[in-house]
Amino acid sequence: MKTKLIHPVFEIISQCADEMQVDAYVIGGWVRDLILHRPCKDIDIVAIGSGIDLAQKVAKRLGNKYHVTVYKNFGTAQIAYDDYDVEFVGARKESYRQESRKPIVENGTLEDDQNRRDFTINALAISLNKTTYGKLLDPFDGYRDMEDGIIRTPLNPDVTYSDDPLRMMRAIRFATQLNYVIEQDSLASIARNKERIQIISKERITDELNKIILSPTPSIGFKLLFDTGLLHYIFPQMELLHGVQTVSGKSHKDNFYHTLEVLDNICKTTDDLWLRWSAILHDIAKPATKRFEPEHGWTFHGHEDRGARMVPKLFAELKLPLNEKMKYVQKLVLLHLRPIVLAKSEVTDSAIRRLLFEAGDDIDDLMKLCEADITSKNEYKVQKYLNNFELVRRKLKEVEEKDNIRNWQPPITGEDIMKTFNIPAGREVGIIKNSIREAILDGIIPNEYEKAFQFMIEKAKEFGLTKYNE
Ligand code: CTP
Repeated sequence: MKTKLIHPVFEIISQCADEMQVDAYVIGGWVRDLILHRPCKDIDIVAIGSGIDLAQKVAKRLGNKYHVTVYKNFGTAQIAYDDYDVEFVGARKESYRQESRKPIVENGTLEDDQNRRDFTINALAISLNKTTYGKLLDPFDGYRDMEDGIIRTPLNPDVTYSDDPLRMMRAIRFATQLNYVIEQDSLASIARNKERIQIISKERITDELNKIILSPTPSIGFKLLFDTGLLHYIFPQMELLHGVQTVSGKSHKDNFYHTLEVLDNICKTTDDLWLRWSAILHDIAKPATKRFEPEHGWTFHGHEDRGARMVPKLFAELKLPLNEKMKYVQKLVLLHLRPIVLAKSEVTDSAIRRLLFEAGDDIDDLMKLCEADITSKNEYKVQKYLNNFELVRRKLKEVEEKDNIRNWQPPITGEDIMKTFNIPAGREVGIIKNSIREAILDGIIPNEYEKAFQFMIEKAKEFGLTKYNE
């Protein structure tokens, strides 16, 4: 490990620790990521003694440019070293508590500190003192667990998870990110202790959920969340997608597994968290709109509209941002069937124009979502849809080049209408304005001022309005 400690800060910590005669180690995520060749910007240092004193000495040695921030209540100190975040803490006997306001009084040994960490793979330490510099201390065989791809707790999992129930989410998050397996006892313990997740703040839970979603194959995590029962507490609306109902011999598909397939599919084409969230939520209203109609079988009429309307409440519950990201997800959920409908029927210019107008700059993302939504097992069907989508894409390009509709605004504004007829803002203005927009989108009139003006005059006659000053 010695050769791997290449970051210059380690040399300085080593000197300072020796001068203070305290043992110091780099520990946790940084060591794990070093072994796994993953980039890591957080360096955690544990001192067998005062972490704060060590940090202050290190900061002094580094020079004026670097500042140490002390968190007395947590017993920690932090130095921002270029774009690295170096955190110092004294070894503790009690549980690893990130959010406790209680001062940490009980000093411990390195082993005490390692015992109280979440997983064997996160409990490795590397010595920084000169005589033992680079030595790996791995009391729980975390190295082997990394080779075997196993998530395991250092202590009895019931103890580790009850110390901090967020670790149940973290176990699933690491299993998903690293494609590891959660060891049996640990998995059983999560299922047993699932209710305890409720004492954790929504923000921290969602933080882990987003890390699962940003993994290469998020379905791994969602299946674990479902199987352990955690999903029921953290995201019950998604759990409701699960299950198949059969009436008169007709079954609908399991929308939970379908959603996961769509999510995994879209992850092959985008790293964007919000597009991935759109995949998760695209069918979220299927349980609420499900009906069995004897002549048609199972239907989910209006699930796209209902789903879009569910988005703000879901975002609020999950403490996701209630801003333009939410509006984006809402828009994609609302429009997610449109390209499919287009691909099924004859693709007219006006239908394409309308879709471009409604989707705006998000049209490419919408197309990605729709392609990801094709999860049929029937190869022939899949190919047929994909071919039709190709046609839709070509048409979208053609119409966009011709009509430039993406961020288009109709040539006549509400203001123009009010001036022309000398009327105040009101219902008529809205109706006339919309009818001009619709006429252009439908190709009834071209996208030109003169033609639109003429159309406006005709339409206004329906309300007994004539041009002012005529
Ligand atoms: N840790 C823990 N229990 C927690 C959170 C963290 O035992 N609930 C310990 C682990 O040893 C972990 C270290 O604190 O490696 C640092 O935690 P953190 O920075 O939150 O996560 P990382 O493990 O570094 O992973 P990532 O950077 O991917 O979040």
